[in-house]
Order: sequence, then structure tokens, then C-alpha cells
Amino acid sequence: MKIHNSKASLKSTLLPLKNNNKSIGFVPTMGALHKGHLSLVKQAFKENDWVVVSIFVNPTQFDDPADLKKYPKTLDNDLLLLNSVSEKIIVFSPEASELYHQNISSKKYHFSGIEKEMEGKHRTGHFDGVGTVLNLLFDAVTPDKAYFGEKDFQQLQIVKELVILDHIPVKIVGCPIIREKNGLAMSSRNKQLSQKEFSEAALICKLLTTVKEKFHNLSIAKLNQLVEEEFKKNDFFTLEYFEIANSATLKTHPNKLKNVKYRAFIACFIGGVRLIDNIALN
Ligand code: PAF
Repeated sequence: MKIHNSKASLKSTLLPLKNNNKSIGFVPTMGALHKGHLSLVKQAFKENDWVVVSIFVNPTQFDDPADLKKYPKTLDNDLLLLNSVSEKIIVFSPEASELYHQNISSKKYHFSGIEKEMEGKHRTGHFDGVGTVLNLLFDAVTPDKAYFGEKDFQQLQIVKELVILDHIPVKIVGCPIIREKNGLAMSSRNKQLSQKEFSEAALICKLLTTVKEKFHNLSIAKLNQLVEEEFKKNDFFTLEYFEIANSATLKTHPNKLKNVKYRAFIACFIGGVRLIDNIALN
């Protein structure tokens, strides 16, 4: 497995592959890898000759310096996990100064408005940071396809818009959420949970599943109320938002509309750890 810290050495590995018409799949990550990331890597191998995985905790997408500081960093373990999938993985793990040069700041993006919903409302500048770093990473890797998990469904939609806006010739592939045995969506942040918090966090997926089951029989207002009441009853959690939104626009509707695909989205804190999840409803 090759590990590159600079764009120049990454290019020197990729250039001969590209010249030989080998296709490159790309999985951008912030490290602290888990089975969810590995499922993206495996999918990328099904569809490409080689796979680049970037490991880079992007400072510009964090609005809270404390959150950035405590973001788990497990590089040695990440490399072991990747090696267990394939020795043909090319790892790109640059320093911020290498990727951003002198200017570690984000560009302002205007997507179709989806950046203003949910995560955009609660994490100021988050999607500008994501857009900026992905632009830099796509430029360094020049992949044919790039893989993103549906756990960050809003991010996935934003990335699809980003590549059109910035004219980046890459196909964006969304992959299903991978869950723990108790239903909790896999996330690097799960490493910050105590055992008790981890088992309590099963409630998130349980509630989303209940909302899906009741979606056809209850109104959106009733479903919102159901989730809010469950959170009020539970001392472990603080609900940041629960929304039932149009999957394409990510906007909420007071009433269900015909021919619209809906998804339920949730963000909550458990013991100071912020978790997000979502589910398709129809
Ligand atoms: O989803 C993530 O891990 C990050 O937002 C990404 C896409 C790697 C950009 O830093």
C-alpha cells in the first residue's frame, strides 16, 4: 500500500496508471475509519482498477474548534484496516499546508439552497469547508468516480452540485448507510461514546424506523411531535433537529405532497457527541 503526503508524489503514482487507462476510484475520508468507510472502498474496487483513499481532518469544515480538536485521529489503525481490504489502495494523507498552501480558509459556495437547510443551519460555513476541501482533493486525485455514504445525505447532494458548479469531471456515487448491530449508523464519532451511550444511541435508528413505519398513517406534524416527545423523555439526548424533508430539495413541507420522495433527518447530542442519521420514508 502506498502512502503519500504530498500532491507531487501522489501525482507521480497516479500518472502512469492514468496513462495506462486504469480507472481511479476515490474515497475521501477524515480518518478514524470504520466498516462504513471500508464498504465505500469495496464498492470503489468493484467499479475501478485502483482506489485512492484520502485521510485528512479538514479544519475549514468545523465551526467549533473544540469539536475539531477532539475529532478522533487513528492513522495507524486506519492504515491496517485499509491494508486488510487491498494492497492496491493508494493513501493520500497531506498536512493542511500541503493541501491548502498558505491559505487555510474556505471559498463561499452558493448551491441551489440545499446548503441552507439542516446541517447548513446548525454548522455555520460547514458546506463551504466541505466544498473547498473536495475541490482541492479532486484536483489532486483526478478520480473517475468518488464515493460518499448516505449517512451524510445532505453532503452527498451538495457534492453532486459541487462537481457541476466547479466543472469537475467525476461521477459521484452514493452508498447505503452501514449500521452497527444495534442500528446505530456507523460514524467516526461513535468512537467518542461510552459503552452506555453507545447502547442508548440505538434509539436514533429505532425512532427513524418508527417514523418510516407510521409515515403513511400519520401527518408530518404528528410524526415531528412523536419524535420530539421521545427525546424529551430521554435524559441522555439533546435533539438538535428532526425534519421530514423532500429528498431532492431538502425542504420541509407542512403536508405530504404526491410524487415527492421524503426522508427523515435527525441530529442530536449524546454526552457531548453530535450524531446524525437519516432514513428514506417512501
Ligand atoms: O464526510 C467526510 O468525512 C468529510 O466531510 C469529507 C467528505 C471527507 C470532506 O472533508
